[in-house]
Amino acid sequence: MGYFLVQCVCCINSPICSTRSLGLTVYCVPRKTFPYQYEDLRLFREEGIWNYSTMLLREDQGVLLLGAREAIYALDIHNITNKKAAVYWRVTKEKQKECAYKGKQSEVECRNYIQTLHPVNDTTMYVCGTNAFSPICDYMSYSDGRLVMYGRQEEGKGKCPFDPFQRYSSLMVGSDLYSATFINFLGSEPVVLRSSNTAVRTEFKSSWLNEPTFVYMDHIPESADSAEGDDDKVYLFFSENAMEYDFYSKLTVSRVARVCKEDMGGQRTLQRKWTSFVKARLDCSLPEPSLPPIVQDVFLLKHQNWRRSVFYAVFTPQSGSSRMSAVCAYSVAAIREVFNEGKFKTSVAVETSHVKWIMYSGELPVPRPGACINNAARKLGMRSSLDLPDKTLQFIRDRPLMDEAIRPLTGGPLLVTQGAALTRIVVDNVLALDGHVYPVMFIGTENGFIQKAVNYAGEMFVIEEIQVYEDPQPISTLRLSSTKGHVYAGSVSGVVQMPVSNCSRQGSCSDCVLARDPYCAWDLSAARCSAVSSNSIGSAAVQSLAEGDTSKCTPPEPVSVIEVNLVPGNNIQLPCRADSNLAQVHWFFSDRRLRSSPQYYVYSGGLLLLNASGSDVGRYACDSVEWSHGEMHNKTVAVYHLKLSPGLGGAEEEEEEGKTAVDDGVANSSGGSDIPSTTEQARIPGPKPEEPLLPETQTDGGRVAGLRVAVAVLALMCLSLFAALVWKVKRGVWCLPLGGPQESKAKTPVVEYAHVHNHTTSAVKMPEPAPGSPCIGNNNHSAVDFKGNGHPLFTSMADISCLDGLGYINDESEI
Ligand SMILES: *[C@@H]1O[C@H](CO)[C@@H](O)[C@H](O)[C@H]1NC(C)=O
Ligand SMILES: *[C@@H]1O[C@H](CO)[C@@H](O)[C@H](O)[C@H]1NC(C)=O
Ligand SMILES: *[C@@H]1O[C@H](CO)[C@@H](O)[C@H](O)[C@H]1NC(C)=O
Ligand SMILES: *[C@@H]1O[C@H](CO)[C@@H](O)[C@H](O)[C@H]1NC(C)=O
Repeated sequence: MGYFLVQCVCCINSPICSTRSLGLTVYCVPRKTFPYQYEDLRLFREEGIWNYSTMLLREDQGVLLLGAREAIYALDIHNITNKKAAVYWRVTKEKQKECAYKGKQSEVECRNYIQTLHPVNDTTMYVCGTNAFSPICDYMSYSDGRLVMYGRQEEGKGKCPFDPFQRYSSLMVGSDLYSATFINFLGSEPVVLRSSNTAVRTEFKSSWLNEPTFVYMDHIPESADSAEGDDDKVYLFFSENAMEYDFYSKLTVSRVARVCKEDMGGQRTLQRKWTSFVKARLDCSLPEPSLPPIVQDVFLLKHQNWRRSVFYAVFTPQSGSSRMSAVCAYSVAAIREVFNEGKFKTSVAVETSHVKWIMYSGELPVPRPGACINNAARKLGMRSSLDLPDKTLQFIRDRPLMDEAIRPLTGGPLLVTQGAALTRIVVDNVLALDGHVYPVMFIGTENGFIQKAVNYAGEMFVIEEIQVYEDPQPISTLRLSSTKGHVYAGSVSGVVQMPVSNCSRQGSCSDCVLARDPYCAWDLSAARCSAVSSNSIGSAAVQSLAEGDTSKCTPPEPVSVIEVNLVPGNNIQLPCRADSNLAQVHWFFSDRRLRSSPQYYVYSGGLLLLNASGSDVGRYACDSVEWSHGEMHNKTVAVYHLKLSPGLGGAEEEEEEGKTAVDDGVANSSGGSDIPSTTEQARIPGPKPEEPLLPETQTDGGRVAGLRVAVAVLALMCLSLFAALVWKVKRGVWCLPLGGPQESKAKTPVVEYAHVHNHTTSAVKMPEPAPGSPCIGNNNHSAVDFKGNGHPLFTSMADISCLDGLGYINDESEI
C-alpha cells in the first residue's frame, strides 16, 4: 500500500511542466521523484515553537539565523540540526491582553513573530517582530556562540508588519532599512519606507500603491561604472489591484517598482516622499488565456556585471479555475530600459466619476520624472532630489506607472507547472564539466516538495522533485548557500536542509547522464555518479547536459537471470520498475514485445501473468526505455526465466501459490523501496532452481483461498489501475497523447473494459502506461482540453468502479 500512497502524494504534487516555443505548448515531467527520506535531510524544529519563516544566512559566521514565533536561533550552517544558540523574545502579558482587547486572536495573532533579520556589521543583526500587533525592533549580536539582544527596543512601525499573516519585504542597504509593509494597525496604509536619518516614504495614493501584497526587495549597485553617473537602486516586487484595466471586478496585477538610493524627497512637492518611485507591470503570460498570474516570490541571480543580473519570479494564478504556476525571468537591463526610456501612463476623466489610464504622449518635463540624479541633472545644477523642479515632481506624483510592461527575458515563462502551486524560488549558478555556467532553479511547492529545474538553450528540464516535508505543507522560505552547497527550506513546522545535489542517487552511467544535472557527472574510473565540484572526480567523466547523450558510457554489466517456477493456472508477478518518470517499461517474451492483454497485465510495477500455462515457459526481459532528445535509451533492468515447477501439487496448492505471488507483488511495491530490491533480485548471480521467487506464507485451503486469490488479483489491478491513472494524470497523459516519438499518435488514454476468465470475475484492462520524453510538443487544443477537464483524475475514477468489481466478488463469497 505504501507504494500507492507515495504515488498519491506524487499525484497531488503532479508537476506537469511546460514551456512555450513557436506557439507549441510543451509539457515536461520531473525526471525523478524522491519521496520523503529522513536520512537525506537535516531538520530543525523545537518543541512548542512554530512559524520558522525568517532566515538570514551568515556564511561569514558559519550560521543560519532563523526567526520563528517568539524565538531566534543560530544554527550550524553545515548541519542545522546542530543548534548553536537561541534567544527567546516573547510578548509581555500586557501587550498580549491589549492586542486581544482590540479584537485579535490572543494565541495566534497576539504573539511576537520575528519578521526582520538583517546584518548590520560583523557581529550584529537588526531584528524586528510583530509583537502582538505593535511591531518593535532591536539589535542582536552573535559572538562566542551566544545570541544576545541589546534591549534597545526601537519603534517598528513601518519597518515590520503589525499582522503576521501579511506578506512583507525588507532590505538593509548600508545602515538604511528599506521596508514595504503597512504602517497602521488596520493594515490599510501601505508604505515603501526608508528608515534613515532622512526617512522617505511613498505617498498614500491609490495610484502609488493599491491594496498591495509585498513580495521581495533587492538592491542593484547601478552606480558602479555608470557612464551617466547613475545612482544605486532598490527594486520592489509586489502585486496590487490594477487601476489601468476596465474590468468587471478587482483585477490583481504583478508589479516591479524601484527607487533611487540617494533619493531625499522633494523640497515643496513630495516632501519626504520618493521622487523616484516608478512602477511597471510584470508580464508573464501563461500558455493559455487566463487572468494575469500573481507574483509570489523573486530571486535575484547576481552577476558581476550588474546589468546582466536576472530576477527569477514565481507566479501563481489569481482565479481558482487554473492550477498552473509559472516561473518568468527578467533582466535588470530590460527593467531599466522601461523605467529609463519608456512612456508613462496618465489618467483621463471619462464621464463624471470614472477615470481611465492611457499612454501619456505629451512632452516630458526635464529632468525626466522618476530618474535618479545623474550627470545630466548635475550639469543643470541639481545635486540632489531636493533640487528637482516642481514640474518634474508633480508629474511623477500623479503618474508613477509606466505604460509598457516588463517582458520576460525569454519572451514567455521558463517553466509552467500544473498541480501544487509553486511558492518560493532560489537559483544557483553551477559550473558544469563543459566549462559553462548553468542557472539551476530550486522551487518550493505548496505541498512540501522542492523541484530542481534547469534551462538548456530554451529547453526546460526538471531534473527531479524531492519531498522535504513528510506532511504536505507550503514552503514559506527558501535560502541557498551556494558555497556550502545547501538549500534551506522553512515552513510553519520547521526548517529543512537539503544538499543541492546527491549524485549517488543515480546508480548507473546512463542514469547519471540522462539526469542532465550540471552538479553531477559519471566518473568512469570510479564507476559512480559524482559531484562535478569534488576534487575526487577523475579526469575521465561523462556529462551531457544539452543532449543527455549516453554514448560515452561503458555498457552496463548484463543483469543475471532470475529463475521462476511456473505452476499452471497460477498468476505470476514479475517485478520491474522503470529508471525514471520519463522512462517506459517494455516487456519481452523471448523476443516478442508484450503488451497488456487478457493474458498479460503490464503495469508500472511489473508484469502480471494471468492464469499461466505451459506455453508461458521461457525468457522474460524488462527494459527501461527513456527518450532524450529523440534518442532512445534502452536498459535491461530485469530478466526472468520461467520454467515448469518440478513437483506439481494439487489445485489447492496452485491457488495458494497464486495468492502468495500476488500478495508478494503488492508487498514488494510497498514504500517505494522496491527499486533496490528488484535490482538486487535481478543481480542474484546464476540460476537458483530450487528457490521459489515468492515465499509461501498462507495455509488456508480450498475455495476461500481461490476467492481470495481473485479478490487479491482484482485489488491489485484496481490499485495498479489507480496508480497508473495517477501516473498518467501526473504526466498529463490523460488528455495528451504522450509517448516515444513513433508511438505518440497511436496511444489512447481510454480505459478499456475486458472480460477475463468467465462471467464471475470481471477485470479491468487498460493500455499500458505510456510515459513521455521530458518535453513533448502537442497542440494547444489538447492543452485546453486538459485545463477544461478540471480534475481529470478524480472525476474519471468514479467511472471505473473498481469497488463495484470487488463488491461483486464479496457477494459471491457470501453465497
Ligand atoms: C544521497 O543518497 C543516498 C542514496 O539514496 C543516501 O543513502 C544518502 O544518505 C544521500 N546523501 C545525502 C547527503 O543526502
Ligand atoms: C548534525 O547534528 C546533529 C546534532 O548535533 C547530530 O546528531 C548529527 O549526527 C549531525 N549530522 C551530521 C551528518 O553531521
Ligand atoms: C555593530 O553595530 C552595533 C549597532 O550599531 C554597534 O553597537 C557595535 O559597536 C558595532 N560593532 C562593530 C564591531 O562595529
Ligand atoms: C503559525 O503556525 C501556526 C501553527 O501551525 C499556524 O496555525 C499559524 O497559521 C501560523 N501563523 C502564521 C502567521 O503563519
